[in-house]
Amino acid sequence: MKSVCLNPIRSQIQPPLQRRTMANVSTNVEVGLDTNYDRKAELKAFDDSKTGVKGLVDAGIAKVPRIFINDQSKINHKSGSGAHVSSLPILSLEGMDEDSSMRDELREACEEWGFFQVINHGIPEGVLEDMLEGIRGFHEQDPQVKKEYYSRDNLRNVTYNTNFDFYQSQAANWRDTLTYTMAPDPPTPEELPTICRDVIIRYSAEVIKLGRKLFELLSEALGLDPSHLNDMGCSEGLHCVGHYYPACPEPELTTGIGKHTDICFLTVVLQDQLGGLQVLQNDQWIDVTPIPGALIVNLVTNDRFKSVYHRVLAKNIGPRISVVCFFRTHFQEGIGSSRLYGPIKELLSEENPPKYREITLKDYVSNHYNKGQDGGRQLDYARLY
Ligand code: OGA
Ligand code: NI
Repeated sequence: MKSVCLNPIRSQIQPPLQRRTMANVSTNVEVGLDTNYDRKAELKAFDDSKTGVKGLVDAGIAKVPRIFINDQSKINHKSGSGAHVSSLPILSLEGMDEDSSMRDELREACEEWGFFQVINHGIPEGVLEDMLEGIRGFHEQDPQVKKEYYSRDNLRNVTYNTNFDFYQSQAANWRDTLTYTMAPDPPTPEELPTICRDVIIRYSAEVIKLGRKLFELLSEALGLDPSHLNDMGCSEGLHCVGHYYPACPEPELTTGIGKHTDICFLTVVLQDQLGGLQVLQNDQWIDVTPIPGALIVNLVTNDRFKSVYHRVLAKNIGPRISVVCFFRTHFQEGIGSSRLYGPIKELLSEENPPKYREITLKDYVSNHYNKGQDGGRQLDYARLY
């Protein structure tokens, strides 16, 4: 197995020298009996600070503010047994074109797991390392520079904020994110933050190339013509997020990203070595042991391939950095945004009737943003029965 050497885990966060700079946010202890807790006001005060979760940590907060506290019964930090952990598929892409038994393994991984890691994927190790470093650099630069990007305007090509669904979700997640859309209409280089501009352009081009290859292999795995999924436009949109999960003083009270499924045709996840990503398999949370180049598959295949629940734990070490590329268009108008997608007709039959209605990506993505990540399956929005 080819392994990629990434930067060693950074030392623990520095103790704070300055006092908290943002509006006073209440913690679980402080608000325990406080009936005047005004969640909306606290969300707004935090958002207005534009300094994200990292700003809280830099200010030395020792308790998780209440707006981030999750229903504890939903967080169980234990993962599955070792046996399960090792069974998350790791697939090598080298030679898969010529080897149909390797493609069978891919199909099985999609049917049984919906989530697997790929190695020998052709993206140079140096590019993966630089990409993670670029995202770290963005989040660790002067807050004044970062603030320029802080926004919840989904029509902007490049934004930075804490949780896209901050105002909709029941509990905020312990994570800040740089968001950018690279296809079909990429931002101009000047729109991308200077500190990670070049590597974003380089890495995204590599991910699109890899995505096209995966869509070919997945088409074949479904018994379709190799160009089928690419011809449907599955690789035309690329929406990306660079997550920064700061160390959390009370990781048992919150999550880095709550339980969810992704909204896209295919996701490519690059994670650093810290761990915390888990997938739900047979009612058990299984760790996705860090190997760079992990992939989450999420095809609209009438449930033949799994769209799987996953999440990221909050941890008392950090920051953890990940770059997640979703193959889908975003809110921008353009090719593909109004095309109808539904179960692939060639795969339907009397025994396998459509379980989902046809919808546009625009409709699908808008629903996701209006509702936020509520723990349900994204595909259920289009489910017929
Ligand atoms: C996501 C996601 C996982 C990670 O952004 O949808 O699942 O490792 N991220 O950050
Ligand atoms: Ni996800």
